[in-house]
Amino acid sequence: MSRIAYVNGRYLPISAPAVPVEDRGLQFADGVYEVVKAVDGRLCDLDRHLDRLERSLNALAIPMPMTRAALVRVLCQTLRRNGLKNAGVYLQIDRGVAPRNHLFPKNTRPSLIVTVRRASFPKAVELAQGVGVITLPDQRWKRCDIKSVSLLANVLAKQQGAEAGCREVWLYDAEGCVTEGSSSNAYIVDQAGRLVTRPLGPEILGGVTRTVVLELARAAGIEVVERPFTVAEAHEACEAFLTSTSSLVLPVTAIDGRPVANGMPGSVSRELLQRYCAHIVSAK
Ligand code: PDD
Repeated sequence: MSRIAYVNGRYLPISAPAVPVEDRGLQFADGVYEVVKAVDGRLCDLDRHLDRLERSLNALAIPMPMTRAALVRVLCQTLRRNGLKNAGVYLQIDRGVAPRNHLFPKNTRPSLIVTVRRASFPKAVELAQGVGVITLPDQRWKRCDIKSVSLLANVLAKQQGAEAGCREVWLYDAEGCVTEGSSSNAYIVDQAGRLVTRPLGPEILGGVTRTVVLELARAAGIEVVERPFTVAEAHEACEAFLTSTSSLVLPVTAIDGRPVANGMPGSVSRELLQRYCAHIVSAK
């Protein structure tokens, strides 16, 4: 079955030439995106994703191309037309099509693209044994809280990580504190068993998975401390893990080639993975 994309009002084969050359997403990366997980045909934590989408759009003064209810119908219809129940649903909204000029065009309709892919969750062995990350300087812009399609620095970091044999890269700021991963949020567990992660702010994307996992941690009686942590602290941590819509709660068992504690996922990471999996099969 060929994959189907929604592009500005039409459902088309994914390979169809559908985006105009002067789309501002293409020429300026002038747009935002979301990745929503479908589990058993249900879009997980959809309201939280749409809230973040609206925040990102507002920050860039791009209007919603349609009502929220209509957008949900498009997402569900694209999922259905692809015949998938467990999938990653990608949606992108950009400022629309106009002759190339940095200034915002007047009276331009925003573009909406939706694609669906089979879910690519981590392999069982990665969840059971954890993955490695390397650390690199964070070279991104100063509004990482906006889920912008402008991902060049993330792409370059992820590629460098892959070439070093690592699943993810943890980025650090000028003070040596970890901001987040190239496409995920970053956490450690300290010697006292506290879960430590960077607080929300312009240096990180407020992950939907992050919000859910912190709620689950607090409900499980795990102390959560939202403060920056250094790369040196991460090297000495008892546990480390990352979260994202597609990576779930993924234990990190090596940082910069050094094992985290005994090199196996710790109890906090395992408990949160279990609770998060329960959440996604049950929650709206
Ligand atoms: N990435 N930080 C960054 C830089 C991200 O790109 C992502 C998500 C996250 C985690 O956000 P969430 O929990 O809402 O997925 C944090 C998506 C999945 C992507 O780019 O594919």
